[in-house]
Amino acid sequence: MTRQKEEEFQVADMPNLSGYTAIVTGGNSGIGYETTLQLANRGARVYIASRSKTRVDAAIKAMKTGNSGLDIHFLKLDLQDLQSIKTTAEEFSQKEPRLDILINNAGVSLFSLNMGNIC
Ligand SMILES: NC(=O)c1ccc[n+]([C@@H]2O[C@H](COP(=O)([O-])OP(=O)(O)OC[C@H]3O[C@@H](n4cnc5c(N)ncnc54)[C@H](OP(=O)(O)O)[C@@H]3O)[C@@H](O)[C@H]2O)c1
Repeated sequence: MTRQKEEEFQVADMPNLSGYTAIVTGGNSGIGYETTLQLANRGARVYIASRSKTRVDAAIKAMKTGNSGLDIHFLKLDLQDLQSIKTTAEEFSQKEPRLDILINNAGVSLFSLNMGNIC
């Protein structure tokens, strides 16, 4: 049986996330950006784990344009570098007592790669 459109999970269905801590990998762009913004809008402290502090800081600045009180931070992560992943985990453990939400979003889609080859 097909679910009705109005039964689908909506952003408005997200509960209050005050007191929760999240990591969104690749949260400075695309789907990760929007996920970060919505989690933060619900009160979560969100760490954007990504490669470039410059790109993450620019994304955080844009997100805070609508709400300067959003609790969003940069966490250095390069998923192509295994040592960096361990360092990221250690750095996070030093900052926070626990992780409540992990969004494994970062990645490169084959579609993007194919478009890159075509262009
Ligand atoms: N968009 C779609 O239609 C679609 C469809 C199916 C699946 N997906 C998947 O959904 C996810 C997000 O897609 P999107 O379209 O929102 O992608 P996007 O806009 O290209 O964003 C990808 C994010 O991942 C980060 N990233 C890439 N490689 C990384 C690495 N080695 N270490 C750390 N961070 C890295 C990027 O950081 P930088 O800014 O440093 O590059 C960027 O923040 C991807 O995993 C993609 O494969 C997307």
